[in-house]
Amino acid sequence: MKKLFFAILFSLPLLSGCTKSGDEIRVGEFGSLTGNDATFGLSTNKGIRLAIDEVNEKGGIKGKKIKLITLDDQGRDTEAVQVVTRLITQENVVAVLGEVASSRSKAAAPIAQEYKIPMISPSSTNPEVTKIGDYIFRVCFIDPFQGFVMAKFASENLKVKKAAILRDVKNDYSVGLADVFAADLKKMGGEIIADLSYQAGDVDFKAQLTQIRSKAPDAIFIPGYYTEVGLIAQQARDLGIKVPLLGGDGWDSTKLSEIGKEAIDGAYFSNHYTSESTDPVVRDFITRFQAKYGDTPDGLAAMGYDAARILILAMERAQEIKPNLIRDEIAKTKDFAGATGKISINENRDAVKSAVVVQVQGKSNKFVTTIHP
Ligand code: PHE
Repeated sequence: MKKLFFAILFSLPLLSGCTKSGDEIRVGEFGSLTGNDATFGLSTNKGIRLAIDEVNEKGGIKGKKIKLITLDDQGRDTEAVQVVTRLITQENVVAVLGEVASSRSKAAAPIAQEYKIPMISPSSTNPEVTKIGDYIFRVCFIDPFQGFVMAKFASENLKVKKAAILRDVKNDYSVGLADVFAADLKKMGGEIIADLSYQAGDVDFKAQLTQIRSKAPDAIFIPGYYTEVGLIAQQARDLGIKVPLLGGDGWDSTKLSEIGKEAIDGAYFSNHYTSESTDPVVRDFITRFQAKYGDTPDGLAAMGYDAARILILAMERAQEIKPNLIRDEIAKTKDFAGATGKISINENRDAVKSAVVVQVQGKSNKFVTTIHP
């Protein structure tokens, strides 16, 4: 009797496993759930799950529930290629959501393009990402705009004339953003008096910072990810550097202030979203997110939510759940009112949107200004 019971118990999930794929819509997600940039993947996943659970609770799409398959790439480019290949060839997903980091989106996008599976990056901002092919989209602005935003903010709001740059040379996002910032600040009459590098994983930045200190800049632009930025801030203050520190969206993590502590206080960065927004669409998203998870969404969660919503709406509009039809509908996205602002996908498969500048104040990021394209 007991044996029979277990036999039935174990065969149930198996049975449902093989009959299910016809009556469910399989969507893949790849992200850094572990590793140096783990908060990026974890936050994005929360936003994506909220969007998918909401539509499933309402009955799904065309009577089918969405099944989300999330794979961890550990924050590594090579792993991103592996997991996206697996999502497409073994998990049979009809679309892929991810990645956050531009280097990992760039590494994996050729796979999605080759198999003609639409991929939407929630927040990769490097221009090269969507150039990989007509199946690759993003729902965020790109770095030529983000770099302009921070150059303009530095020059107009902070009256910066001489800036130093500290960039992560192995990170496509960091290098691209550093270049735009430098070019734009120069156009605005500023000067880059030092442009130095590090690599993700480094822990000692004193040599670069000492060199920067000797040039006496008005501000330091650090377009990196939160882990290193937190350490750089600490070491800069230890060396007596008091000028403002500036960055981009890669700073968006609760870990930034945990690592940087008081050293990062007062620093400014550009971002996709502010939880202080009074827009009813944003407030409503925050309320639903808090009800589900008990915390306030960061920019990544908001971008993940918007990417998933745009995919869901495209699947609803598509005649059938087929990758090529979904692709065509994603491309038609116009004036979608998202948690991160109004999103229209342009002919380059990018979104043209405003950016916000926020200031780190203790554990929170205070809204400072919005800059429009
Ligand atoms: N824009 C960054 C990149 O392209 C990723 C990122 C987005 C990080 C938003 C944090 C917040 O690499």
